[in-house]
Amino acid sequence: MLTDSFQRPVTYLRVSVTDRCDLRCVYCMAEDMTFLPKAEILSLEELEALCAAFVAAGVRKLRITGGEPLVRRGAIGLIGRLGGLLGHGLDELTLTTNGTQLARHAEALASAGVRRVNVSLDTLDAARFTRLTRWGRLDRVLDGVYAARQAGLAVKINTVALAGENEDEFDAMLEWCGREGFDLCLIETMPMGEIGEAGRMTQYLPLSLVRARLARRWTLDVSEYRTGGPARYVTVRETGRRLGFITPLTHNFCEDCNRVRLTVTGTLFMCLGQEDAADLRGPLRRGEDVRAAIDEAISRKPRGHDFVVGRRGLEGKVGRFMSVTGG
Ligand code: 5AD
Ligand code: SF4
Repeated sequence: MLTDSFQRPVTYLRVSVTDRCDLRCVYCMAEDMTFLPKAEILSLEELEALCAAFVAAGVRKLRITGGEPLVRRGAIGLIGRLGGLLGHGLDELTLTTNGTQLARHAEALASAGVRRVNVSLDTLDAARFTRLTRWGRLDRVLDGVYAARQAGLAVKINTVALAGENEDEFDAMLEWCGREGFDLCLIETMPMGEIGEAGRMTQYLPLSLVRARLARRWTLDVSEYRTGGPARYVTVRETGRRLGFITPLTHNFCEDCNRVRLTVTGTLFMCLGQEDAADLRGPLRRGEDVRAAIDEAISRKPRGHDFVVGRRGLEGKVGRFMSVTGG
């Protein structure tokens, strides 16, 4: 079992299998991103070996992320092999995706043992979707979402709350999710990566406010449901579906953090909101004891992030983009 210096068990690993993405969500990426050269990134075999090392060390849940994980060639093969760890130390294998390739891959994901997917979708308006993602097509994502449901996957829609952008849509999204049988999770925008800071602060929308607005129309019953992630849930009485809130800024959830994040370069981030990281690629490629490197990294896991809403806007920001660690 991996336990950090604050006695928190680390049982959840998020693995970014590529820093690339076929979209450019305005809050997530700059328009002209520089992606990693091939030599820097782990092969699929190396990613698998590191995941297996974490599972052997006591990790019970793996989430595959990106960038967009399904744009990496061979991602489905990797997910299939990781599915082989289910029941052998691993309890759950999940995926965070933007949904653009989901229609093609939903069946294979289900066959691999994936039971739940998180689909990032910030709007149901086609024109707005294209603007927010800089060029994406909403209908492709919707096809993907419906294909996932058809394949038997539970779908959670992840929506970043953006002031003046999609804040008028949450009622409609809640209704759509209720009708289609999806859970919805709202996320506060976090100060990660340089997108122009004026942008970030004007985008920031506290979920405490959103929740109060939603409560005018919907009956939100507090729920004990947890997925092992940072979201806090209510059940929407009118639809019977869950609504989650991820509130790094208005409510810090670090005290029971159980997770660490591996990037595609084999860099382990012990906290989403801190710069400290440990290199696992070096030890892996040199044939050294990866477990020792993991233990050392976990012992350095910080107490929490430092994101705050300060007088100068969103503070405590980290330099890397969310697409490096996949949320
Ligand atoms: N703040 C909050 N959420 C973000 N995401 C990407 N960048 C940010 C950010 N700066 C979201 C994506 C996706 C998830 C992986 O993280 O929309 O749902
Ligand atoms: Fe791509 Fe997800 Fe970032 Fe959008 S939020 S650019 S879909 S990685």
